[in-house]
Amino acid sequence: MEPQAEPKPIPLMTPYKMGASLDLAHRVVLAPLTRQRSYGNVPQPHAAVYYGQRATPGGMLITEATGVSDTAQGYTDTPGVWTAEQAEAWRPVVDAVHAKRVGIRLSPFMDYMDCHDSDPHALGLHMATKLNDHGILYLHMIEPRMALVDGRRVVPHRLLPYREAFKGTFIANGGYDREEGDKAVASGYADLVSFGRLFLANPDLPKRLELNAPLNKYNRLTFYISDPVVGYTDYPFLP
Ligand SMILES: Cc1cc2nc3c(=O)[nH]c(=O)nc-3n(C[C@H](O)[C@H](O)[C@H](O)COP(=O)(O)O)c2cc1C
Repeated sequence: MEPQAEPKPIPLMTPYKMGASLDLAHRVVLAPLTRQRSYGNVPQPHAAVYYGQRATPGGMLITEATGVSDTAQGYTDTPGVWTAEQAEAWRPVVDAVHAKRVGIRLSPFMDYMDCHDSDPHALGLHMATKLNDHGILYLHMIEPRMALVDGRRVVPHRLLPYREAFKGTFIANGGYDREEGDKAVASGYADLVSFGRLFLANPDLPKRLELNAPLNKYNRLTFYISDPVVGYTDYPFLP
């Protein structure tokens, strides 16, 4: 019998060393997703369940938007870290995922509310370059608005100049799926790829990507509700 060919490695599932000492087992990152289930700005026990569901050995999760002061609130019931009670309430979440890491996210192309710049590309490139002087572990950037070609979302791949300017770990985000994520890693366009809505709806996303299994669909209507379970910890795992 012919020997079986080795299965080809899935780029998103290959290990990656981040900085000097963080050994990631795969390249599928949870993108930051604001949720509004931290009543009175205090993380709740259900947050530990939610993040614990999405944790994998050697995986990386980025927390939801977290306030640093009571004047830094964009929405109600988002978690904070400015009181001892809040810091203590984060402890079970950290214990559930065993992860603490420092990086920065830039979204120069976003134009929400009054946030816009006359030259977002120049600003982003300046930031990406200057961050090299500050020992930042990773730079995480969102693609400009997605294009639709023949009814399919196409990632615009406009982050290369920033990827080249920044010397640390580069994380790409925005509209990625398995195919686009694999391409980004295989071509060196990004070291890691973060997934927002797909990870929100698929607690076992790394496993599904590894198996090329079908994905749960996300429900926008439950993104920002305050229920401790619905649209939060009740998305099913693979059997
Ligand atoms: C419910 C929800 C909340 C989000 N909250 C934040 C946030 O607090 N901070 C941030 O930088 N991006 C936030 N984003 C953007 C995501 O991190 C990500 O950039 C976006 O969903 C595109 O990635 P995706 O196509 O993989 O979902 C949010 C997105 C969603 C769907």
